[in-house]
Amino acid sequence: MPFSPEPGTATPRTQREWWRDAVIYQIYVRSFADSDGDGEGDLPGIRSRLPELAALGVDAVWLTPFYVSPLADGGYDVADYRDVDPRFGTLADFDALTAAAHDLGLRVIIDVVPNHTSSAHRWFREAAAAEPGDPVRSRYIFRPGRGAAGEEPPNNWNSIFGGPAWTRLKRPDGTPEEWYLHLFDAEQPDLNWTSAEVHAEFDDVLRFWLDRGVDGFRIDVAHGMVKDAALPDIAEGQKADLLDGTTRLPYFDQEGVHEIYRRWRTIADSYPGQRALVAEAWVEDAERVARYLRPDELHQAFNFEYLQAGWDPRRVREVVDRSLASNGAVGAPTTWVLSNHDVTRHVTRFGGGATGLRRSLAATLLTLALPGSAYLYQGEELGLPEVTDLPEDALQDPTWERSGRTERGRDGCRVPLPWEGAEPPFGFGPAGTVPWLPVPAEWAGLTRAAQRADPGSPLALYTAALRARREAAVGAGDAVEWLDTGPEVLAFRRGAGFACAVNMSGAAAVVPLTGEVLVASGPVEQRADGVVLPADTAVWLRG
Ligand code: BGC
Repeated sequence: MPFSPEPGTATPRTQREWWRDAVIYQIYVRSFADSDGDGEGDLPGIRSRLPELAALGVDAVWLTPFYVSPLADGGYDVADYRDVDPRFGTLADFDALTAAAHDLGLRVIIDVVPNHTSSAHRWFREAAAAEPGDPVRSRYIFRPGRGAAGEEPPNNWNSIFGGPAWTRLKRPDGTPEEWYLHLFDAEQPDLNWTSAEVHAEFDDVLRFWLDRGVDGFRIDVAHGMVKDAALPDIAEGQKADLLDGTTRLPYFDQEGVHEIYRRWRTIADSYPGQRALVAEAWVEDAERVARYLRPDELHQAFNFEYLQAGWDPRRVREVVDRSLASNGAVGAPTTWVLSNHDVTRHVTRFGGGATGLRRSLAATLLTLALPGSAYLYQGEELGLPEVTDLPEDALQDPTWERSGRTERGRDGCRVPLPWEGAEPPFGFGPAGTVPWLPVPAEWAGLTRAAQRADPGSPLALYTAALRARREAAVGAGDAVEWLDTGPEVLAFRRGAGFACAVNMSGAAAVVPLTGEVLVASGPVEQRADGVVLPADTAVWLRG
């Protein structure tokens, strides 16, 4: 149902806030659709395919960075926050995309990357050219080295992509001088969030895009901007892993980040039309996540504990209960997510092959049956697996080189989408396009066109589930009433009229639920005593 977020229209208090139960589809821009045949996806490509996403039934799209960037980290190394990289299009293309999305009733969320810039950003180039102590350096974190000649890094922090988190600058004549901090790649220098100029710059960047009509921001490394001012060494053996929030580190989840979000919230709230802020914060547990969601901070945070719960019914149930309780305590909705551009696709995580696919579809029904908001990662609606055999010379994730070619990194979940046709790259770009990562020939049966024609396809299941979710307002509310079905089968009611059951045991199970089957991820049988669910299967029932 199209909406029109009219500028200047105050939202009636009674109107439900859209982000509380939205299904948000993540577009990895480089790999979604290529309009000009340069091998990389782009904004016009996205625009041309938006009707497919409206037909799928999502409420919003989240675009990964499309800003000017050398792409040292796929665009999470931004050289200009207020312009589109020519590879991805122009500002006019962005405006056209946003307008087309809004016409289709889709909201648009974009990434903001405030922890670091690209080393190609004007600020960093100025800082590198300046003398130690020059104020232009205070936008970043520069320090003299340790050791007699400053030859040791200022502390022992490691980059999340491997190797030290510090790189030493050299003068043009080769004389070494100060070191700068980069929690990620050396081409991603960390900003100094004690600088008023940095704060002012990002206030302005947010406004720039809010003025252009974006409906919200996904905040990259939202737990990372503020560092312990003493920059203390970490304990021997502590590791900075992006996906590990369980270790307390002096550069993650520091108290000072909350002040930034209080400010950003006032900026978002000063715009009409319910603009939303979502945190990518890999922090210790649901309670630490909820601290980002206090009423005057952010609207949502990715639920990475859920993503990491695996195919483990006890753990899943525990995470569901804990996240609902923690977020509920601050009045925030919970989000549910199974995949994104940083993790192995869940078909593969759940075992791969037919089993992995069956489980992943069952997990999707579970995810979409929970109260709150859900994130889908492009291609999961096609049941795409991780590509684990990309040729080494195709790998582009900085993790590959920085780990001394021991960790392949995240390219396997970023392979361009198959749209149609019988040959790679399956309509990703115009005829003759050579995609930036090779698309496996085995994906011929997984194209969107092939699945559109198949009522038993993953795409058909996602589409049916999203329609039923919307019709029954499944995302609304916050109560999950578990049924007593033993530890291996998860079953719950959501109010009187809707129930979901997932059989995570290795054998068929009878679940004492009756009513009309709304959607099922496999063949189910209804009997007088309940519904028979094969292993790795989920069902939704009404009544
Ligand atoms: C993004 C990653 C990126 C990192 C550094 C993240 O968490 O999701 O893709 O490499 O931030 O910007």
